[in-house]
Amino acid sequence: MADITSVLKEKRVFKPHKEFSRNAHVKSLTEYKKIYQASLKNPEAFWAGKAKELHWFKPWKKPLVWEFPNAKWFVGGKINASYNCLDRHLSSWRRNKAALIWEGENGEERVLTYQDLHREVCRFANVLKALGTMKGDRVCLYMPLVPELAVAMLACARIGAAHSVIFGGFSSQAIRDRINDARCKIVVTADGGYRRGAVINLKNNVDEALKETPTVKQVVVLQRTKEVIHMQLGRDHWWHALMSEASAVNEAEPLDSEHPLYILYTSGSTGKPKGVLHTTGGYLTQTAFTTRWVFDLKEEDVYWCTADIGWVTGHSYVVYGPLANGASVVMYEGAPNWPDPSRFWRIIEKYRVNIFYTAPTAIRAFIKWGEDWPRKHNLESLRLLGTVGEPINPEAWMWYHRVIGGKRCPIVDTWWQTETGAILISALPGATPLKPGSATLPLPGIDAAVVNKEGKEVPANSGGYLVIRRPWPAMLRTIYGDPARYKKQYWSEIPGVYFAGDGARRDEDGYFWVMGRIDDVIKVSGHRLGTSEIESALVSHETVAEAAVVGRPDEITGEAIAAFVTLENGHVPSEDLKDLLRSHVTKEIGSIARPAEIRFTDTLPKTRSGKIMRRLLRDIASGRETLGDTTTLEDFSVLARLRKEEE
Ligand code: WTA
Repeated sequence: MADITSVLKEKRVFKPHKEFSRNAHVKSLTEYKKIYQASLKNPEAFWAGKAKELHWFKPWKKPLVWEFPNAKWFVGGKINASYNCLDRHLSSWRRNKAALIWEGENGEERVLTYQDLHREVCRFANVLKALGTMKGDRVCLYMPLVPELAVAMLACARIGAAHSVIFGGFSSQAIRDRINDARCKIVVTADGGYRRGAVINLKNNVDEALKETPTVKQVVVLQRTKEVIHMQLGRDHWWHALMSEASAVNEAEPLDSEHPLYILYTSGSTGKPKGVLHTTGGYLTQTAFTTRWVFDLKEEDVYWCTADIGWVTGHSYVVYGPLANGASVVMYEGAPNWPDPSRFWRIIEKYRVNIFYTAPTAIRAFIKWGEDWPRKHNLESLRLLGTVGEPINPEAWMWYHRVIGGKRCPIVDTWWQTETGAILISALPGATPLKPGSATLPLPGIDAAVVNKEGKEVPANSGGYLVIRRPWPAMLRTIYGDPARYKKQYWSEIPGVYFAGDGARRDEDGYFWVMGRIDDVIKVSGHRLGTSEIESALVSHETVAEAAVVGRPDEITGEAIAAFVTLENGHVPSEDLKDLLRSHVTKEIGSIARPAEIRFTDTLPKTRSGKIMRRLLRDIASGRETLGDTTTLEDFSVLARLRKEEE
């Protein structure tokens, strides 16, 4: 648990402005504390109260059935997420409210009201059914950030098919593995999407993947970029052709509260990506509630979360949470610096965005690009800022606060994970005094703590493991197809509690300071990557004998991938070979996993039992002196040689 001293120096505190607190959902720290304490006395009653704000076809019998480590929330209840995000808003004036305000990277604009979105979703639900999709099936979505992606998700939810969204940056092999793991029947994709002015051809990747996916029978293709693509007769269908024939009448299926809503693959410390399974009633309850409280959402707000829908943030805080609240949601397809680094600020000015939620890696890039870009735009509509995905360094926080927030906007630093489904630790902006770099306090209903290996809480300001001690409604239910791994991965490391990889400390006010992953997960630009996946990709190349991958600090991306590679006999290190290996990883996983740095070495430092000593490699990759215990090192000379490589 190193690195806590630097953070300890942070003493700045920002109290909520009176005006903001007066209008907020939660108005003071005292009020928060009261709600928090009551919620922990009786979490089931607390969550039941939140669940009641949704529409249920049939009420639940029990709020929670907990058989460690398996939770069932709102048992016996019947609900539909699509109904809650759409139909529920149609009986009021909200039916003509903007649901999605979309801008393409190429400048196209579309606004869909709740009524429009409902019509499209009903049509696509009928399309899916006509193609043979049934309740309980899995549907793979591999699309650009366009309204049709949200339409497809809500259509799946409507008929009770689980969606598995795959981020558009993943390669054909990553698609193939995910489709096969979930046994998807249908793939919904597009000809292409735009990114930094270039066209990313998605359909080609799907075609390549589908050579080895026996379960997929049908493919729906959205026309977006008008690329010339191959359409396989009988298998591939145009989105627009199917939609023009489809009826706009579709009744949402009443589903069991525990019916699967989606699978989302994420990287862990070992093995292949895990299919995190989320279900319906609890997930929707908590995403809707946290959207309202954490972002202090009001009816008239324009809300923008910049995350791609391919990640959990897009699932929970672009689609389900905001739409369940009837919010107006901005969606932008492309890069923040296309055609120039003012793109985000132009969007904020143009749509008068009130709530803006982005990632520290983006903020650090904005800092690098300079203040002039945001200064050119009127950002006065903003009233609340948020961050997610990795710890935010206090100086980046200060810049965000001053330059983007005009010193008037609170910043909610939200801690959560793909597995938690919803935000668990965050300020409530009208109540919580902010400390730059801290995610602050647990939300009501969340029993978070920092503990040692035995599960005992550690004293204030000591490092430990961030755990959650009681089940919460939006928690993952299992790893798809692998319940044993679910138990082992999350509920076994520390007795009796949920632990998923982060180190943290709490300060004297109980504030959480997340120190980052302490397992072998790297966060590059907020994207989660398992070192073992990248290692497997490297080793699958014919020239590579062994590989070890670690993260090293990077000013913009937070962490960058550094790979140590041992070559098979007969292969000679060269710059060309480095390029070749980088392209190979891109092909195997996708460009997000491309190593920033590759170093060739004859041997890797190992313990006597043969475990690679990553800590040492991390030190070397980040240019740090190696501290700590190296007595179990098998071969001391390895270290010296690795360092020499640098020179
Ligand atoms: C990290 C993203 C510090 C953390 C929603 C966690 C954070 C991992 C924060 C989950 C934050 C997320 N402060 N660290 N506010 N938010 N993290 O699954 O290491 O992509 O375990 O979910 O991101 O990443 P994931």
